[in-house]
Amino acid sequence: MKLSQCLKSLVIAATALSFPIAVLAAPAPIVIKFSHVVAQHTPKGQAADYFKKIVEERTKGRVKVEVYPNSQLFKDKEEMEALQMGSVQMLAPSLAKFGPLGLKEFEVFDLPFIFDDYAELHKVTQGPVGAKLLKKLETKGLMGLAYWDNGFKVMSANKPLREPADFRGLKMRIQSSKVLDAEMRSVGAMPQVMAFSEVYQALQTGVVDGTENPPSNLYTQKMYEVQKYVTMSNHGYLGYAVLVNKKFWMGLPADIRTILDGAMKDATVFANNVAKKDNDEAMAAVKKSGRSQIIVLTPQQRADWKKAMDKAHKESMSRIGADIVHEVYKETGYKP
Ligand code: LMR
Repeated sequence: MKLSQCLKSLVIAATALSFPIAVLAAPAPIVIKFSHVVAQHTPKGQAADYFKKIVEERTKGRVKVEVYPNSQLFKDKEEMEALQMGSVQMLAPSLAKFGPLGLKEFEVFDLPFIFDDYAELHKVTQGPVGAKLLKKLETKGLMGLAYWDNGFKVMSANKPLREPADFRGLKMRIQSSKVLDAEMRSVGAMPQVMAFSEVYQALQTGVVDGTENPPSNLYTQKMYEVQKYVTMSNHGYLGYAVLVNKKFWMGLPADIRTILDGAMKDATVFANNVAKKDNDEAMAAVKKSGRSQIIVLTPQQRADWKKAMDKAHKESMSRIGADIVHEVYKETGYKP
């Protein structure tokens, strides 16, 4: 056989061989990009990683979940836009960040002292009021799959915060919620909205004097290293809703969506089981570091904060919607 003929038969044989391989090759996996702004070792960070693990196991690789923590991919505001545009498929933003989307009702979760503990919170997040709120996301092309807990906030600053009057004139970083704006103003502080990724530097350079966050964020972002005082006030709640782009979600093959729904249920149980423990451990680590002085409010001081901050409830009633606020009051028993 001539060399050219020999080559030709080799090509034919190779093509014949590769054809069945191409037919048998697995289709490219469905990719879910899950972007978030906090560290991996936080309740949200761990729950996102857990969701990835169980989804990839249960779908046997048909779905790949890529988790991007720490604002690596998008910051607060951009991640919402990215989800609506389909550049990412899943987020778990804080409930305090839905106002700019036009969903002011979610700011009910920011009302100071509205939840005494996780049990009261769960009456809302795991009950009909929570479900009704998630449904509202659909008007924005989104779907809310679950609520994930974080925890109750502490206040930090470079001066001790014991009495409402101690806030006067302080520049305090807040999330993009008008209720949090009203909360800070109710005690005479000057609120400043800022992306989470910029908070550490703003505290370090004195752009703002203080902030509020659950201990897990205070600790993992090292904010306690640049704040002299931390008041264990538990004055408000910070938690999340897991969001997907509705078009993307409804366009998934039904069997895949069923697996993902099951995985989300399990990841939610996981998230809500680690949240309290994680925050307790973070608070213990902040205390142990000795970097900031920890302030525990007396019952009277806490009552004074609550009384002062009730102004934020009154001011926010019409913005959030009095019906929603009263439905939540009914679940939690909030009394000024
Ligand atoms: C914040 O901006 O302080 C938080 O919403 C960050 C987060 O996602 O926990």
